[in-house]
Amino acid sequence: MKDEVRRLLIDEAIKARKMAYAPYSKFLVGAALVVPSGNIYTGCNIENASYGLTVCAERVAIFKAVSEGQRHIDAIAIVGAPLFEEDETAIEGEKTGGEYAFPCGACRQVLAEFLPESQDIDVIVAKSQDDYRVFKLSELLPYTFSI
Ligand code: THU
Repeated sequence: MKDEVRRLLIDEAIKARKMAYAPYSKFLVGAALVVPSGNIYTGCNIENASYGLTVCAERVAIFKAVSEGQRHIDAIAIVGAPLFEEDETAIEGEKTGGEYAFPCGACRQVLAEFLPESQDIDVIVAKSQDDYRVFKLSELLPYTFSI
C-alpha cells in the first residue's frame, strides 16, 4: 500500500473520529477505508442509550461503502485510542491516554466478508500520522467463518 494512501486514510479516520457520538463511553473512534477504485468511506462509532444498539466506527464505514455499491475493501485505518492530553484533536470530556484501538471481533468478521482480489485487507491502527501499526486482516482473524 502506498505511503500516501496510508497517510490519507489515517487523516480521514482522525477527521471522522470527531463525528463520533459516544456520550456513554466517551471513547471516540474514527475509521476510514479505501476500495479498489480509490474511493474512501469513513465512519464513527454511534452509541445509544440502550447500550447494546451501539455500532462501531468500522462497521459504519463498511456499511456506507457497501450501501453505495462497493464489495471489496483494500485497507482500513482506525483511530480510537483516547488521545493524549496535549493532543489538539482531543474532544472535551473524552478519556485520554491509552493503546491502539484494534477492531473488535464483530468488525473483523464483517471486514472478512468484503475481501479484495488479493484476499487480504490492511488494517492500520493509528494514534497519529506518525504513530501507527499495520496488520493483515488474516493475522487478526484467522479461520474466518464463511459459508
Ligand atoms: N468501538 C468501535 O467503534 N470500534 C471497535 O472496534 C470497538 C469499539 C466503540 C463502540 C463504543 O462506542 C466504544 O467504542 C466503546 O466500546
